[in-house]
Amino acid sequence: KEIVVYDEVESTNSKANELLKQGYPSGTVVIADRQTKGKGRLGRTWISPSGKNLYMSIALKPGIPPKYATLLTLTSVVACTTALRRYTDIPVMIKWPNDMLIDDKKIGGILTEMKIEGEKIKSAVVGIGINVNMTEEDIPEEIKDIASSLKIYKGEDFSREILIVEIIKEFDKWYQLLEKRQRKTIIDRWMQLSGTIGRQVKIVLADRELVATAEAIDEEGRLIVKLNDGTYEKICAGDVTLLR
Ligand code: BTN
Repeated sequence: KEIVVYDEVESTNSKANELLKQGYPSGTVVIADRQTKGKGRLGRTWISPSGKNLYMSIALKPGIPPKYATLLTLTSVVACTTALRRYTDIPVMIKWPNDMLIDDKKIGGILTEMKIEGEKIKSAVVGIGINVNMTEEDIPEEIKDIASSLKIYKGEDFSREILIVEIIKEFDKWYQLLEKRQRKTIIDRWMQLSGTIGRQVKIVLADRELVATAEAIDEEGRLIVKLNDGTYEKICAGDVTLLR
């Protein structure tokens, strides 16, 4: 297995993409100590200081149809959350689609970038960011209420190296299930780890906002919600806030 480690990159996602183009094999892992242009979902910035957190990307050539693209992200978040729970013993939860939360505060996220050609996913990069040893002082004022880290929760430092090993092990296992089309196993595990299902959520879509109860996810990874009038909707993309 190829694991490439850098002190500094703009973004491990961009680096992983370059390496794939240069002919590195599917499964190559890119890790950096810090990022100068860390990318979050929905065009946001991912704060990436040196020495404290985990920034890693896995470059893949998945053999799954584009229809199941979201499942790749769900598979990754299942793997990361399982690894985090095993190593730290903290009850980390998933918020749809791919946020990792402790006490409803975000400690990690996943950004998947894909190239789709016709009926195939040509390449995919799964980017994982986890706030490991960040302290309260390291977190910008604007996101103090919604962001946290393993250290802030537990009051102790964690090893990035151990976490990396655990994540790679779990990722291999869950990715194999995905390639073998074991979608139900992945979705069942996602639901077990999810703090979203059963909760009232606010969803901000491109053109409107919804308040509804999160009921389940379907086999393509869409969130199924029940509106107050009793009707159901399937959500593909959007920003979800947990209400109660
Ligand atoms: C999110 O917005 O929740 C996703 C955050 C993903 C951050 C990680 S850090 C490693 C990888 N490289 C990036 O530029 N982003 C992802």
